[in-house]
Amino acid sequence: MKAVVIDAYGNNDVVRYIDADCPIPRASEVLIKVHAAGVNPVDWKIRGGLGQRLGMSLPIHLGGEVAGIIEEVGDGVSGFKVGDAVYGIIPMGGFAEYAIASAGDLAHKPFNVDFIQAAALPLGALTAWQAMFDLAKLSNGQRLLVTNSSGGVGSLAIQLAKAMGAHVTGMGSARNEAYILSLGADEFIDYRQQRFEDVAHDMDVVFDTVGGETFDRAFLTLRKGGFLVTAVAFPQDEASTFGVGVGRVYCKPNAEQLASIRAFAEAGKLKAHVATVLPLASVKEALYLSEGGRTRGKIVLQVTS
Ligand SMILES: NC(=O)c1ccc[n+]([C@@H]2O[C@H](COP(=O)([O-])OP(=O)(O)OC[C@H]3O[C@@H](n4cnc5c(N)ncnc54)[C@H](OP(=O)(O)O)[C@@H]3O)[C@@H](O)[C@H]2O)c1
Repeated sequence: MKAVVIDAYGNNDVVRYIDADCPIPRASEVLIKVHAAGVNPVDWKIRGGLGQRLGMSLPIHLGGEVAGIIEEVGDGVSGFKVGDAVYGIIPMGGFAEYAIASAGDLAHKPFNVDFIQAAALPLGALTAWQAMFDLAKLSNGQRLLVTNSSGGVGSLAIQLAKAMGAHVTGMGSARNEAYILSLGADEFIDYRQQRFEDVAHDMDVVFDTVGGETFDRAFLTLRKGGFLVTAVAFPQDEASTFGVGVGRVYCKPNAEQLASIRAFAEAGKLKAHVATVLPLASVKEALYLSEGGRTRGKIVLQVTS
């Protein structure tokens, strides 16, 4: 089968599109015939050296978000059978014609979206869910600021927060204003034209996927007792300084949450915007585009047409 592997850390030169043996599912695992795989910043970050810091060992098969059809089930798998259409996140190996997943990490694919759309949902939606609902306890009627509302995570965060009844302020650049408002944001801030902390205030929750200075300044938008959750920065002692809560999300597989996310998708309340679809063989181009940091929504690799 075709697969994407790195034997060393570095730039796109280390990425190889190879012929590899098809993996075999062990107990509690399934083999997925991958139809589409989502491309995420974590993929080029792993390629660039994050893999080492995460304790992964080379060679690393890239790709952590897939949608496809179950080809084979390992011993002890219940709830899935050969032929089921599934989606989810996996530790590695998603940029390939076949991938292994722990059956407990997957859910059935939303019936009303194709594989490309389905592959664009799991990582962003799970990250947003775990950040906003598990950590920040965002609830109906609360005020939320999403610092990067046009990216793969933020664009799903806005829709999930709106579906839960929050009042959402989206942030992005002018070219993404109409897009961010179309996702359901109640208000929009152009981060290039305004200092967002001058206009956003009394937030109950900020969900930050930018980090750096944006993370630092986001504290100024929270009410006392509010909560800043970041997917990028590493919080220090800001909680006591600002009188707020702070946390960092580390997205984890969660089949129950994926089933809830499916329900939102099937109800028409959640839709991934797929900006670019490329064939698996064009993985380097996909990583290059993602690394550029300007994608509106998601980049998806089409593996099986
Ligand atoms: N901790 C976790 O578990 C976890 C999980 C998922 C993702 N992440 C991290 O979260 C970050 C975002 O991921 P993503 O997939 O959403 O990224 P992405 O899709 O690559 O984000 C691209 C978008 O960011 C916007 N943007 C760039 N700079 C911005 C700024 N200063 N303020 C507001 N928007 C800005 C760009 O819009 P313009 O071109 O208009 O600026 C573009 O639309 C990444 O660093 C990723 O690694 C962490």
